[in-house]
Amino acid sequence: MKLIMLGAPGAGKGTQAKMIAEKYNIPHISTGDIFRANIKEGTELGKKAKSYMDAGGLVPDELVVDLVVDRVGQADCKNGYVLDGFPRTIPQAESLDAALAKTGDKVDYAINIEVPDQNIIDRMGGRRACVACGATYHIVNIPPKKEGVCDKCGESLILRDDDKPETVKKRLEVYHEQTEPLIKYYKAKNAEVEIDGTMDMNDVFDAIVKLLGA
Ligand code: AP5
Ligand code: MG
Ligand code: ZN
Repeated sequence: MKLIMLGAPGAGKGTQAKMIAEKYNIPHISTGDIFRANIKEGTELGKKAKSYMDAGGLVPDELVVDLVVDRVGQADCKNGYVLDGFPRTIPQAESLDAALAKTGDKVDYAINIEVPDQNIIDRMGGRRACVACGATYHIVNIPPKKEGVCDKCGESLILRDDDKPETVKKRLEVYHEQTEPLIKYYKAKNAEVEIDGTMDMNDVFDAIVKLLGA
């Protein structure tokens, strides 16, 4: 099962992708997590990506596409995967489709999690993320058992640099301009499914599982 998560920043793509990956036993591939790990390690890729991310813009397509195409070609992706944060532009989607087409493959579902902008702005300031394992929490909605500590791996939680209110606004603008057109793109391929992302995270998950039909 080859899945893509669509949705605005903060819609809950990462939260749901992790639950999907666990249930269906497929890898969760988050380009945002990959970039944040590279920034933390101080790699060349991390250095290049950081300025774009901090400004709320997109990292250039050429820094993302090969990385993802290479990743989905690895052995653990044979039975499928859930892509979170990729594709984010039409050229990225076209590159992915072209790579998949080489082996007669395609994206099965593009899961579009719909959340109005205002809810997003409310959510982001409360988010805390684990840079070690990618788990996300919300100080009110989904708090960790121990404040500031990841339930899953015990590392400390951070407030992401790009979750400042001005940057969130910019990220929403970029989303509407460059990423939202992907909804039409996947609709045209009969792959797009829509989920109300304002429900409780477990209800969102149940709705996704129902749609996937297994
Ligand atoms: P990325 O890390 O992908 O950020 P994003 O798309 O902005 O998405 P987020 O991770 O902010 O939100 P999410 O939808 O995963 O929500 P979450 O589950 O955490 O990318 C970061 C940056 O990297 C980009 O801005 C860009 O610069 C660059 N980048 C990455 N990929 C790229 C690409 N392909 N091309 C170019 N550049 C790229 O949930 C949000 C919060 O809400 C959490 O606190 C969570 O606990 C809470 N929450 C979740 N679900 C619910 C619910 N149902 N009810 C209440 N609260 C909830
Ligand atoms: Mg995320
Ligand atoms: Zn962790």
